[in-house]
Amino acid sequence: MDSLTIPIADDFHLHLRQDAMMHVVAPLVRAGGVGRCVVMPNTTPPIATAEDAIRYRGALEALAPDVEFLMTLYLLPELTPQAVSTAAAQGVFGVKCYPKGVTTNSESGTEDFGAYDAVFSAMEAEGLALLIHGEVPSNAEKDVCVLNAEARFLPELEKLHGRFPKLRIVLEHVTTAKAVDCVKALGSTVAATVTAHHLDLTVDDWAGRNHNFCKPVAKYPHDRDALRQVVCEGHPRFFLGSDSAPHPRSAKESACGCAGVFTSPLLLPYLADTFDRLGCLDRLADFPSTFGCA
Ligand code: NCD
Ligand code: ZN
Repeated sequence: MDSLTIPIADDFHLHLRQDAMMHVVAPLVRAGGVGRCVVMPNTTPPIATAEDAIRYRGALEALAPDVEFLMTLYLLPELTPQAVSTAAAQGVFGVKCYPKGVTTNSESGTEDFGAYDAVFSAMEAEGLALLIHGEVPSNAEKDVCVLNAEARFLPELEKLHGRFPKLRIVLEHVTTAKAVDCVKALGSTVAATVTAHHLDLTVDDWAGRNHNFCKPVAKYPHDRDALRQVVCEGHPRFFLGSDSAPHPRSAKESACGCAGVFTSPLLLPYLADTFDRLGCLDRLADFPSTFGCA
C-alpha cells in the first residue's frame, strides 16, 4: 500500500502560540491532516475570557481559514459561573486546567480544585468540557517527580468525576498504563487524549535529548505499550490530541530546554507510520477522526 485516505482529523489539544510563532505554525495545521482543533489557552497573558478567546480565534482564522478552531479558557481564580455561561453562549468549547508550575506557562495554574466547585457546576450545566493537564507538581517530601506525577494525579480525577459525574472531562496527553486503566474504569463522561509522540517515545528518548522533552514526560516501555494497546484496540474514549507545542530552537536547545514537542505539520503521517508498525493501520481512522467528536 502506498496511499491511505481517511477523513479529515480532529486534534483535541494543540498549541498555536501568538505573534510570529502563530504566523508560522497556524498555517501548518491543515498540512498535518487536521481540519478542526482545540486550541490551548496558555498564551502570555493566558486566554481568560470569552472575549479573549473570540479575538484569538479571529487571528487564527485569518491565518488558516480552512481550519475550525475550538477555543478554551484558562482556569483562573477570576473565572466565575457567569463567565462560564457567557463563554458557552459565545461557542467556547471548554476550560483548561493546568496544575500550578508543572509545564510551560503554567505559573497561573490551579492549586486547589476544591476552589472551583461553582465553576465546575456551571460548566456541567452548560456542557463545557474540562480539559486537564493531569500531573501534580514535583515535591521531594512527597516523593513526587516527573515519572510519577501523572499517576499521583489520578485520585484527584476520580474525586472530581465522583463529584461532577455529568461534567465532560478530558484527561489530556495520557502517558501511563495507570492513567489508561483509570480512564477506562471511569464513566462515559471521562475521556483521554493521546499524542502521536507518546505512542513513540520512552524515557530514554528524552533524557539528554531536549527535542523530545515535553510534559508530561514519556514514561516506561510498558506505559508506551499500554497507550499503543488502547489506541490499537480502538477504545472510543481515547482519541487524538497532539499537544503539538512549538518552541524556538534556541529555547529547546538551551540549558533548561522548554517542554514541548512540535508535531503538527506531520501529525497524520506520524500516526499512520506508528499504526502501520503496530499492524493496525486498518484502525487508523477512528482515533483521529471519529472518537473525539463523538
Ligand atoms: C506545552 C507548551 O509548550 O505549551 N508543553 C508541553 O510539554 N506539552 C504545555 C503543555 O501542554 O503542557
Ligand atoms: Zn499542551
